[in-house]
Amino acid sequence: MAEGRMRPAELIRFKQSGRAITMLTAWDGLSAALVEEAGADVVLVGDSLAMVVLGHATTLPVTLEQMLHHSQAVCRGLSKPLAKQPLVVCDLPFLSYQCGLDRAVAAAGTILKESDAAAVKLEGGEPEVVAVVDRLVRMGIPVMGHLGLTPQAVHRLGYRRQGIDPRSQDKLHRQAQALQDAGCFSLVVEHVPSELAGRLRRNLSIPVIGIGAGADCDGQVSVTADLLGLTPSQPPFTPARMQGRELSITALKSWLKEQRDQGATPTTPPPQQASDC
Ligand code: KIV
Repeated sequence: MAEGRMRPAELIRFKQSGRAITMLTAWDGLSAALVEEAGADVVLVGDSLAMVVLGHATTLPVTLEQMLHHSQAVCRGLSKPLAKQPLVVCDLPFLSYQCGLDRAVAAAGTILKESDAAAVKLEGGEPEVVAVVDRLVRMGIPVMGHLGLTPQAVHRLGYRRQGIDPRSQDKLHRQAQALQDAGCFSLVVEHVPSELAGRLRRNLSIPVIGIGAGADCDGQVSVTADLLGLTPSQPPFTPARMQGRELSITALKSWLKEQRDQGATPTTPPPQQASDC
């Protein structure tokens, strides 16, 4: 089905050749088409869509069914021939991979079976998560890891910068190594000091893709809605490239005003019919 499309392992070759990897999020056909046309290497159906488009306060409530629905829409929105399409990676949502290895395989397998996503991403580096990665990879499912600020752990870690003291940096480093050893083909590191991201980049053979982690990474990822200035509140590490929200509201207001200014033709009510009753 997805023959010819960029494979996850291609990202490792990008790292080896020093080609910067670009990844942008998409949540539906419209956003996927924009990201594809702009030329991103990877389209991430991130579970940030829980907050960006579903109106939740955290990423925790989004379900596997909803992620699948959005992954299918993103894949339908890609229009180039398959061989030229970006790699689509879909986030595994909270509780879809924490309740046993078999359930994790079923969740990840469903995403790959029922949408054209070619890989999944999951958060954390605890031994239980590493075991899930190991099992998924053995089952033929490519996995991208995610360390640092992991929004699914918001109630434990908050949305704070991670890896700020030597002890937590060493822990994060060990977890990254374990994820690589378990077979992850790449690793997102979110909101960590740039020195830590650089150390990871140098010591890992898989690409380190940063967000709020400085420039010393093998690639960068951004939440598209933040980049376009569409979200009401901006994360500190993603300055908007345009004021999308304001521009959209201005355009919509001007259309609404035009309609009201044109007015509508008054309609004379039809004469009352004589009624028997
Ligand atoms: O869900 C998401 O958008 C992500 C990115 C922040 C990497 O995981």
